[in-house]
Amino acid sequence: MLMNNAEVQVAQALKSIARNQHIKSYIQQSSELYPLLWKAAKRFVTGEKKQDGIETANELISKGYFISLEYIGENTAAFEDCIKAKDEFLNLIEKMGSMSMNQTVSLDLSHIGLSVNPDMAYIHLLEIAEKANQYGITLMISMEESSKTNEILDVYKKATKQYPNVGITLQAHLYRSSDDIKELIHYPGRIRVVKGAYQEPAEIAMSRTKELNNRYLQFVEQLVEANHPVSIATHDENLIQEMEQRQFLNHPNVEIEMLFGIRPDLIKELKNKEYNCKVYLTYGKEWYLYLCHRIAEYPENLYRAVTDMIDPSLAGESSSY
Ligand code: FDA
Repeated sequence: MLMNNAEVQVAQALKSIARNQHIKSYIQQSSELYPLLWKAAKRFVTGEKKQDGIETANELISKGYFISLEYIGENTAAFEDCIKAKDEFLNLIEKMGSMSMNQTVSLDLSHIGLSVNPDMAYIHLLEIAEKANQYGITLMISMEESSKTNEILDVYKKATKQYPNVGITLQAHLYRSSDDIKELIHYPGRIRVVKGAYQEPAEIAMSRTKELNNRYLQFVEQLVEANHPVSIATHDENLIQEMEQRQFLNHPNVEIEMLFGIRPDLIKELKNKEYNCKVYLTYGKEWYLYLCHRIAEYPENLYRAVTDMIDPSLAGESSSY
């Protein structure tokens, strides 16, 4: 999607607000702002509790989708909170396992310890991966700001060697990704290709251009040719059409993955064509960064956010799938 100058400025402003920890904790503690913005976040987040995520997941699975579920959060700074987050993931997996929901769980490593110490994130990841493995659940690691890429990739590489059910996300917008993919292709975990949500300096990342779409296509092509499990995680209709023409989508190792609340019409159409389609669901209270990113990617969402705050009955789109 190419944005005009004003939209680019709004997107950049939102992405830098998103990274501001003071604003985040102010909103989380505000009895006025939190409930107001929550009305807008509900378009993209299933609810604040695990049960909300599970219920939406069940509904979508019954309609023929695969799902990926995340207990939302990142940049956890306190040791005890990292343990709490890890325990929540273990409980989530237990719950999914008890319902034979052998689907996908997604997480940010900085939610379970990376911001405190990469070793802690690794140890927690192994514990979660072991539990996921018992129930045939896949674990997908999200990719965060470029300052964390090396640490995230290191943790991933060590973990997936022991637990091939652990996969990784690759951001096409980072220049370094063309080297990273050459290495990652030799590891067993699924690779989720995204364009990249974080604001990065121009020296290391490209913006939403045709060139970025071409890189995206190249990455997916490389993975498909190597028969490597891949998630095509984009809502870009033209890009998806191109991949459909190139016969990437009907490959058994390929799935198309979209975020809950974004283009349900498009993923429904693709599911009706019998491609593997997965919806990425989130739950929890730490939705602030997530909401900022969803608006920054598509500034029209700002209008929707305002409408949702006034009439929340319009948000939440599980019936559109
Ligand atoms: P692009 O931004 O070019 O948009 C193409 C079209 O899609 C738009 O014209 C519009 O129609 C639609 N669209 C896109 N975003 C929309 C929105 N918010 N609301 C409404 N319509 C929208 N990023 C990251 O850095 N690390 C990660 O780990 C992940 N994980 C992840 C998982 C999954 C399953 C998905 C789908 C995406 C991510 N992302 C991510 C986010 C990703 O990097 C990217 O920011 C978004 O997917 C938006 O980019 P698109 O590829 O959709 O294209």
